[in-house]
Amino acid sequence: MDAMRQYTLGLLTSGGDAPGMNSCIRAVVRAGITNNARVIGIHNGFEGLINGEFQVMGPRDVGGILQRGGTILQTRRSERFKDPRGQREAIRHINEAGMDGLVIIGGEGTMKGAHALAKLGINVVGIPASIDNDIWGSNMAIGVDTAMNTIMEAVDKLRDTASSHGRAFLIETMGRGSGYLAVMAGIVCGAEMVLVQEVTVTLQEVADAIEDSYRRGKTHAILIIAEGANFRTTELAKAIDEMDIGFKTRVTILGHIQRGGSPTAFDRLLAARMGVKAVECLLEGKVDIMIGLQGRGIELVPLEEVTTNKQQANEEYYKMARVLAR
Ligand code: F6P
Repeated sequence: MDAMRQYTLGLLTSGGDAPGMNSCIRAVVRAGITNNARVIGIHNGFEGLINGEFQVMGPRDVGGILQRGGTILQTRRSERFKDPRGQREAIRHINEAGMDGLVIIGGEGTMKGAHALAKLGINVVGIPASIDNDIWGSNMAIGVDTAMNTIMEAVDKLRDTASSHGRAFLIETMGRGSGYLAVMAGIVCGAEMVLVQEVTVTLQEVADAIEDSYRRGKTHAILIIAEGANFRTTELAKAIDEMDIGFKTRVTILGHIQRGGSPTAFDRLLAARMGVKAVECLLEGKVDIMIGLQGRGIELVPLEEVTTNKQQANEEYYKMARVLAR
């Protein structure tokens, strides 16, 4: 870092939004300015980078956003950026704006985009933010804890009505490529069964689990189903009802409610730690990396590793959910 020079840092959020993105934007802007950098917010993710949708950000521009869900920079899933022409256009805008480096906040796909830019010579630091928690190299991504709490609150409420009516509730969580939310929700909400893409189950196994709960005198059965599991939730409910096994079913698809809301204390703290660290890394020339949480500490993980490894499903937690369902 050249102490005499003012650095210019770009900042964007991309992919599915996650609670805590705003807390992270605030951290990057304020840490950047404190370190004498100029921070340019890029609207609409990589799409905005291609279009040159830039805004210089001061400390007041990020006032009052710490506790707000979503992202004030907005986000997109950009098809154009996957194309080399889109990437060239993005680089032209980065150079024209005099950006020395970029902080890129988002999920698995976003980290791939960040690495693509790095390979083309742009200084980038990635920050993992996605409710799916499917990003290799970080135990937790920003937004996961808030989403988990949203799911927990919803399932607790559904359990009330499920018990009153003696029903089986099939509750679908997000996570098209990862069963993380479903498994963890299974544990914290005491589900009778969890269905995830990582483990294939048969209709008979699902029916047996529900019937077993009924026979053992439970007043309900809660099934948490990841959206990528090997059954479509509504079709599964229909098939179970046709089998006539004690409980009648109801379906709740939690959907995008899981992506909204005020970030929890955990997510705000994680966002602050990662945002500050990302600025520090860019200014020190530590680039083409992602900021990861490993154990309780912050680690720097090469984007090459992040983008070539797949986050493994946690078998131990899946088994735990099953054991606790007795
Ligand atoms: O990547 C986060 C996620 O919420 C997934 O869990 C879900 O499958 C997907 O995004 C939904 O994307 P969209 O909001 O574009 O429909």
